[in-house]
Amino acid sequence: MKVEEVFDSYDNYVMPTYTKIPLVFVKGKGSRLWDIHNKVYLDFFPGWGVGSLGHCHPKVASAVRDQAPKLIFIPNNYYNLPQAKLARELAYWSFPVKIFFCNSGAEANEAAIKFSRKFGQGRYEIITFENSFHGRTLAAITATGQKKYQEGFAPLPDGFKTVKFNDIQAVLGAITDKTVAIMLELIQGEGGINIADKDFVLSLRKICDQKNLLLIVDEVQTGIGRTGKLFCYQHYGIVPDIMTLAKALGGGLPIGALLVKKEIADILGPGTHASTFGGSPLVCRAALAVLNAIQKEKLLGNAQKMGEYLFTKLNALKGKYPLIKEVRGLGLMAGIELNIPGKEVVQRCMEKGLLINCTHDTVLRVMPALNVTKKDIDRAMAILEEGLIA
Ligand SMILES: Cc1ncc(COP(=O)(O)O)c(C=O)c1O
Repeated sequence: MKVEEVFDSYDNYVMPTYTKIPLVFVKGKGSRLWDIHNKVYLDFFPGWGVGSLGHCHPKVASAVRDQAPKLIFIPNNYYNLPQAKLARELAYWSFPVKIFFCNSGAEANEAAIKFSRKFGQGRYEIITFENSFHGRTLAAITATGQKKYQEGFAPLPDGFKTVKFNDIQAVLGAITDKTVAIMLELIQGEGGINIADKDFVLSLRKICDQKNLLLIVDEVQTGIGRTGKLFCYQHYGIVPDIMTLAKALGGGLPIGALLVKKEIADILGPGTHASTFGGSPLVCRAALAVLNAIQKEKLLGNAQKMGEYLFTKLNALKGKYPLIKEVRGLGLMAGIELNIPGKEVVQRCMEKGLLINCTHDTVLRVMPALNVTKKDIDRAMAILEEGLIA
């Protein structure tokens, strides 16, 4: 297919739900992507955090190659080996949990919401936060604290209260006898890389314990090493009751997971929830390869080290360019808030061969793979600096 035919096909046959960037990619390896014209790009925003291992990691590719001829899919009313292993692995690295497997972050959050309602036995209100993002199903956009995702989709489901992030008094003021859960991202990704304060999170944990509420952490974007620990909650000295995962877990294959603390997890019994494709042998093999690579290649250590290096570089840019208002983030999840819209900076970086993202209009998002090198960070920062200069 020629590039014009690709665009033509999308124009004619694919629903226009995404703001498209006119690049057609045909190959990826680590932090590099090649487009149809063989131009190479440094990918510092691999798939909204999906590409924690970079593109086409050899361990993921070989797991898929090995599993595909054996068994790709088997329904969930049977058992399969990779799902059994993956559930055991995730429970080992997180907290005592039982897991429900699905295919995306929104689905995992939808399952968390359903779980909470079943747990609540009549209590159904969930407190969520301004600027949060939890996905695109009807319940997930209602949980999402940004009106722009909700417009045009009324009536929205009942039972969500959105309050100010990092404001414990606002949370306390929103709790009623119908409240069942508090749901948050510990670092709001789409909302502009806003970090939950440690005291705030410790207080949420205390409130949930005192009032028998579920603390749900949405680690769809922060999970699987992004912040330098396998899960972001591990920075906070708390254990959630529920955690949702997706994005990086599958190494590029679609997977979502709802992890619920073991003593209450059986509330969702047979017939109460399901997902045809959830936890298929193929995607679970890929996810096992991701977890294996993170351990064997010491990628959490690399994410911490490279994260420090990245933030040093970004702060140096901030010192040099007054248009950078703030640099914030953790591990390899970085936000650069500008005092101008970031769209043109992203465009200029792209033209020079660096892929980054802009969220919330003015926040550049940089989230390279966990195995990123100093050399690639240097290259990316040099391009970013050029991109900052109009
Ligand atoms: C924190 C968070 N939750 C949920 C989602 C939705 O995930 P998905 O697009 O896989 O449904 C996203 C996607 O960006 C996210 O960042």
